[in-house]
Amino acid sequence: MNYLNKKTVEDIDVAGKKVLVRCDFNVPFDGEGNISDPKRIDEAMKTIQYLVDHKAKVILCSHLGRPKGEFNMKYSLAPVAAYLSKALGFEVKMAKDVVGESAKSIAASLQDGEVELIENVRFHKEEEKNDPEFSKQLASLAEIYVNDAFGTAHRAHASTAGVADYLPAVCGYLIQKEISVMGGALTDPKRPFVAILGGAKVSDKIGVITNLLDKVDTLIIGGGMAYTFMNALGYSIGTSICESDKVDLAKDIMAKAKEKGVSFLIPEDTVVATEYKPDAEHKVVDSDKIPADWMGLDIGPKTREKFANALNGAGTVVWNGPMGVSEWENFAEGTIAVARAVAESGAISIIGGGDSAAAVEKLGYADRMTHISTGGGASLEFLEGKVLPGIACLNEKE
Ligand code: 3PG
Repeated sequence: MNYLNKKTVEDIDVAGKKVLVRCDFNVPFDGEGNISDPKRIDEAMKTIQYLVDHKAKVILCSHLGRPKGEFNMKYSLAPVAAYLSKALGFEVKMAKDVVGESAKSIAASLQDGEVELIENVRFHKEEEKNDPEFSKQLASLAEIYVNDAFGTAHRAHASTAGVADYLPAVCGYLIQKEISVMGGALTDPKRPFVAILGGAKVSDKIGVITNLLDKVDTLIIGGGMAYTFMNALGYSIGTSICESDKVDLAKDIMAKAKEKGVSFLIPEDTVVATEYKPDAEHKVVDSDKIPADWMGLDIGPKTREKFANALNGAGTVVWNGPMGVSEWENFAEGTIAVARAVAESGAISIIGGGDSAAAVEKLGYADRMTHISTGGGASLEFLEGKVLPGIACLNEKE
């Protein structure tokens, strides 16, 4: 499948038409019920504004959280409608249901350029089952389907994929941007192409490592999963996290990297702690000399410099996963150093969603990255080379 050949909102006449737009408004809330990070809504605005400006009758839909197929107002999208109304400067009409009387009557009365938001599609269990009848009901609200929910594109659900069986289906600007930047890096990267992978487990990243090994010039491994590689090299890793059933796999990966001429970097030194606590006693040791009762929780200063040098002069950088326990100040330096090095590298920089995206935002480097993906699971599956159902279902350009 050619991801870059999908029809977009610009390839279809939307004026006067009812357009169902699947967004990913799965945003976090603070303790008082306020949206604490509206990035995903902000990123969807370009498509929504385009449709409004081109006189479409816009019907927005999304999931929020995991309400398990039942109406539960804790997961209502009403706060999103309020946020959107402010951003657009006019009222977004919030439906009380998904495919019921309220959603239908608002949809039927929409004037050109008006916007409706229907309730959380996961209030119906048929959504996650990709039930054809439910997809048909959703489709019956509109004449055109636009998918702009990159963060949910790895799910084959009714509103992300099933509905495309019943309507002309195109992508919005957010999906278009995500696939052109990430797809471009995977198919024709500016070299040298460097990938930095972190996070706790090798098992979460096997697919990405395997896919990227065929494409990158340098592969950098940090975070908790580095200790499985160190174990495979025969280092003593103390009480550091290690997936013993993945040690052979780690050996294979390193052998393949060698065979393919990929420069494979793991931490030379490590910040170790006596226990897994934010204020635990800690010190820096060489990675092959982690004392028996100590655990590695971050990359050390020599490694930060080595990784920064590898990033300097890169043409393309893909980063997914923190270098240590980045939410704790004592073990955040490695992730901070990598964020800074990526920002300063001058490379096309792509940050996979999830923890690394959050770290980059928090540290104030977001503006200096080429692209921060709005998808956690979705960007990981994209980098694994998997087909994303929410994109596969869209119409191709002739
Ligand atoms: C996400 O937050 O990663 C997406 O919105 C998908 O949510 P899900 O994991 O509940 O399907």
